[in-house]
Amino acid sequence: MKAAIINHFGPPEVLEITEIEKPVPNDDEVLIKIKFAGINPVDTKVRAGTSGMSKNLQLSAILGWDVSGTIESVGKNVSEFKTGDEVFGCIGFPGLGKTYAEFAVADPKLITKKPANVSFEEAAAVPLAGLTAYQAIHEHLKVSEGQRILIQAAAGGVGHLAVQFAKLNGAFVAGTASGKNEDFLRSIGIDLFINYKKEKFEKVFKNGDAALDAMGGEILYRSFSCVKKGGRVVCLPSSTKNDPKAIELARQFNVELIWPMMHPGGEEMSIIAGLLEEKKLVVKIDKIFVLDDIVEAHKAIETHGTDGKVIVKIR
Ligand SMILES: NC(=O)c1ccc[n+]([C@@H]2O[C@H](COP(=O)([O-])OP(=O)(O)OC[C@H]3O[C@@H](n4cnc5c(N)ncnc54)[C@H](OP(=O)(O)O)[C@@H]3O)[C@@H](O)[C@H]2O)c1
Repeated sequence: MKAAIINHFGPPEVLEITEIEKPVPNDDEVLIKIKFAGINPVDTKVRAGTSGMSKNLQLSAILGWDVSGTIESVGKNVSEFKTGDEVFGCIGFPGLGKTYAEFAVADPKLITKKPANVSFEEAAAVPLAGLTAYQAIHEHLKVSEGQRILIQAAAGGVGHLAVQFAKLNGAFVAGTASGKNEDFLRSIGIDLFINYKKEKFEKVFKNGDAALDAMGGEILYRSFSCVKKGGRVVCLPSSTKNDPKAIELARQFNVELIWPMMHPGGEEMSIIAGLLEEKKLVVKIDKIFVLDDIVEAHKAIETHGTDGKVIVKIR
């Protein structure tokens, strides 16, 4: 089968298109014929060798965790899926990529059926970012009716889904993005749009219950003053984990600081699938690449300027 692999860590150009053997599912796995793979910033960090997960990767390796496609075959112990089912999920975690390819084996617990009115493109765009956003809003920040939350990088892959989960919970949602994203963010219900290129977010949003930060560093430091005592701040980039300055600021502001790690699972994927089906959750796709252009796809994500999601068409 055709796949994009890396033989060593490095810049986007280490990604190579090649022919490798089609994987064979064991008795407890399914084989997915992939239509689209989703790209996430973590893929680029694993590729560069800078992610903590790079060490789990045995080279040569396929990258990519997010997938949409159809079930090609099932192991003899699998009863939840059958050949031909349309599915999606985050199947490569932790650190074991596999979706930049024509086929991938998956644990059936990590996938869910794709609703008929959700496209394969949308389905591949959602899993990792959707699970991260869902867990940040529900599990870590515990955002509830009437609370006020600030979402940094609100137009990003995780951010735009987190905005919608927080709104579904009845929160007042403020979010930062550049001006080109204002109309989109208003269309998904943001209450306070903050153009980070024109104004300082800490001047216009104060006394929040929670903040979700997708940036780290200075933006994380400045976010503490937006949250009231006893509030919570989630910071997503794991490269910033245990930043001593952030820990000290959290202590000074009396705010709980959490660096979460997304955990994949079919149950939350089913909830997300239901929201997509009911059109209560929309996913924005910024760019669609073909597998042969995987290097360009990684370069695009690394600009940190794509809005919504980047996906790759496999077939
Ligand atoms: N811990 C975990 O389990 C976990 C899971 C998922 C993701 N992550 C991490 O979370 C981070 C975000 O992921 P993502 O997929 O959402 O990223 P992304 O889609 O690549 O983020 C791009 C967005 O960032 C915005 N942005 C750039 N600079 C900004 C600034 N100064 N202020 C506000 N917004 C800014 C851009 O908005 P404009 O275009 O408007 O400038 C763009 O919409 C990554 O580091 C990723 O690795 C961690």
